[in-house]
Amino acid sequence: MAGAAPDPFAKIRAATDAHRAQHRCGAHPYDNGPLLAALAAAADARRILELGTALGYTALSFASGARDATVDTIERDPEHVQLARDNIAAAALDHRITVHEGDFAAILPTLDPGYDVAFFDGQTPTPALHKTLRGLLRTGGTLITANLNHGGTADAVRKALFDGKSWRSALVDEEGETAISVKL
Ligand SMILES: C[S@@+](CC[C@H](N)C(=O)[O-])C[C@H]1O[C@@H](n2cnc3c(N)ncnc32)[C@H](O)[C@@H]1O
Repeated sequence: MAGAAPDPFAKIRAATDAHRAQHRCGAHPYDNGPLLAALAAAADARRILELGTALGYTALSFASGARDATVDTIERDPEHVQLARDNIAAAALDHRITVHEGDFAAILPTLDPGYDVAFFDGQTPTPALHKTLRGLLRTGGTLITANLNHGGTADAVRKALFDGKSWRSALVDEEGETAISVKL
């Protein structure tokens, strides 16, 4: 998908794939950074929250799309944290992107609510994390959920996103991998 649009961070995406092959980890880069950049720009986002940094590909995409935004991104793998910080510094975006090292469940309660955009890209989504994300997002804010077609706990998350009461949601792709949801 990303091949269809110019991607300023294509090299970091490729480096993430190469890293995963060696590290045998779960660092699967998201397939469309330019989409995330455009969504952040459309939302005129000032504060963005990301779960699942890997090597920084999507955090950089968000920051490049919303030029006044700060990005808080969470990652528990120390090697990923270091590589992401290096990539973010090399892109001269370290004044706007903070990589928080730790588990999602430990870091999220330390963050202030009022995010304009939140992105879940940390393996399979769970209802508990989504409830916490909803609390951190402002009303009218945008939640982007990846890995929604992974089965297991993702099925309950998809059901909640499409219940018509709490969110206005749409699927981005035919596979049902990603949803965009506005907090009602
Ligand atoms: C799919 S990758 C993120 C890819 C990244 N957004 C990108 O597009 O390049 C998921 C990342 O989440 C991290 N992760 C998974 N579960 C986590 C958790 N509970 N707390 C913190 N990090 C977690 C993994 O170490 C991995 O680097």
